[in-house]
Amino acid sequence: MKRIPEPFRIKMVENIRMTNRAEREVALKMAGYNPFMLPSDMVYIDLLTDSGTGAMSNHQWAGMMMGDESYAGSRNYYHLVDKVKELIGYQYTIPTHQGRGAEQILFPALIARKKLRGGANAPVFISNFHFDTTMAHVELNGAKAINVVTDKAFDTSSYYDWKGNFDIEALKQAIEKYGADNVVAIIATVTCNSTGGQPVSLANMKSVYEIAKQHDIPVVIDSARFCENAWFIKQREKGYENKSIKEIVKEMYQYGDMLTMSAKKDPMVNIGGLCCFRDDEDLFNEVRIRCIPMEGFVTYGGLAGRDMEAMAIGLEEGMDEDFLSYRINQVTYLGEQLRKAGIPVQYPIGGHAVFVDAKLFLPHIPSDQFPAHALNNELYLEAGIRSVEIGSLLLGRDPETGEQKKSPMELMRLTIPRRVYTNDHMDYVVDAFISLKQRVADIKGLTFTHEPPVLRHFTAKLKPIGEV
Ligand code: F0G
Repeated sequence: MKRIPEPFRIKMVENIRMTNRAEREVALKMAGYNPFMLPSDMVYIDLLTDSGTGAMSNHQWAGMMMGDESYAGSRNYYHLVDKVKELIGYQYTIPTHQGRGAEQILFPALIARKKLRGGANAPVFISNFHFDTTMAHVELNGAKAINVVTDKAFDTSSYYDWKGNFDIEALKQAIEKYGADNVVAIIATVTCNSTGGQPVSLANMKSVYEIAKQHDIPVVIDSARFCENAWFIKQREKGYENKSIKEIVKEMYQYGDMLTMSAKKDPMVNIGGLCCFRDDEDLFNEVRIRCIPMEGFVTYGGLAGRDMEAMAIGLEEGMDEDFLSYRINQVTYLGEQLRKAGIPVQYPIGGHAVFVDAKLFLPHIPSDQFPAHALNNELYLEAGIRSVEIGSLLLGRDPETGEQKKSPMELMRLTIPRRVYTNDHMDYVVDAFISLKQRVADIKGLTFTHEPPVLRHFTAKLKPIGEV
């Protein structure tokens, strides 16, 4: 494949520590066979997440020096508001400490409003796929989270352009089943993280919005990777090949009423989030009231002035087409090399990560022994690379029955931070997989030694089956 080189040069470096296998064996055992519990100094290449792990540019760092740390009315807040108006077209902006901060102040306001209008007796949110914290905030507010992503997303080996799309029939059926009065909001997650950083087409966003409007349901765009989504639209959607990313982003946001955003992804800040409204001033004011006790005063929302400045600059940098072409090319390069080596991955490769299908790669490990997590551990032992499980371990148990929930997929996510690693690092990851592939049959599943009752994957302790 054609490789697109970095559209930047490197001005500062951060040394990373190489470790040997014996050191890693001790570290992993001490971490309860859970890479979340590893000290980062014991990790050589950290592919746990692309969240807050990007490298800021010289412009962003210069912006940090321009922080106005006034408690109220910081000039960086006004810069941010102006950038959101200019780039996204939404009038009202609340900064938050990160994406989940936006979720925690928006969702209760949406439920309260629906109740005021006589609905939400059994509140439901419908999404192509709720990210885990999104689902957690839905459930913490006593609502149900329903996912209606296309079935095509679950067949990792067959190509489909839009594995993040809503299944429109399933969406209509869900509205019918739960009743439009109970559907508090529809959440369009772009790109769809949980199915592999897969894009949602504009045609699909438009249909979802039309259906929502027929039923008077608001649409929230969960925007962590909105620039990557726009880039895929430009490559794949008929009629958009000559549009700029900026034009496509503007159009995407016409098919929503408000947004939540983790700015730690595409806008490349280490911390920050947004909750913005197209034109609903009343809802904006209701959410602002919740912002003060939860996140902070309405013009800083848990951030320093300098963080807001870096975010305002990052919003625009994240939309740069040369950057996006390089960025997605790097992720595709890793994915294609793995495919060539016979490693089953979600195909086509998504925007921010390569998702390895552990069900196919380790067919001898049943889902209740967490094959993708076993693969994380093995890759760490092999080469000091940290990755993350998206499967049964993350999904957890049904709170009512205590049964393990059935995960449609067992995925291991290799998440690529932005502007941080080179393609030599990517080759190193591929080589590690090639060595690991020789002894796939010897990899063992895992069992709990300590299982926390909620969000267990972060702090669980495990051991390989058969180990005392
Ligand atoms: N929505 C999506 C689609 C996300 O991927 C995330 C975070 C959030 C919301 C929450 O944002 O972390 O800023 O509070 N995803 C990270 C990840 C953590 O690793 O995929 P946050």
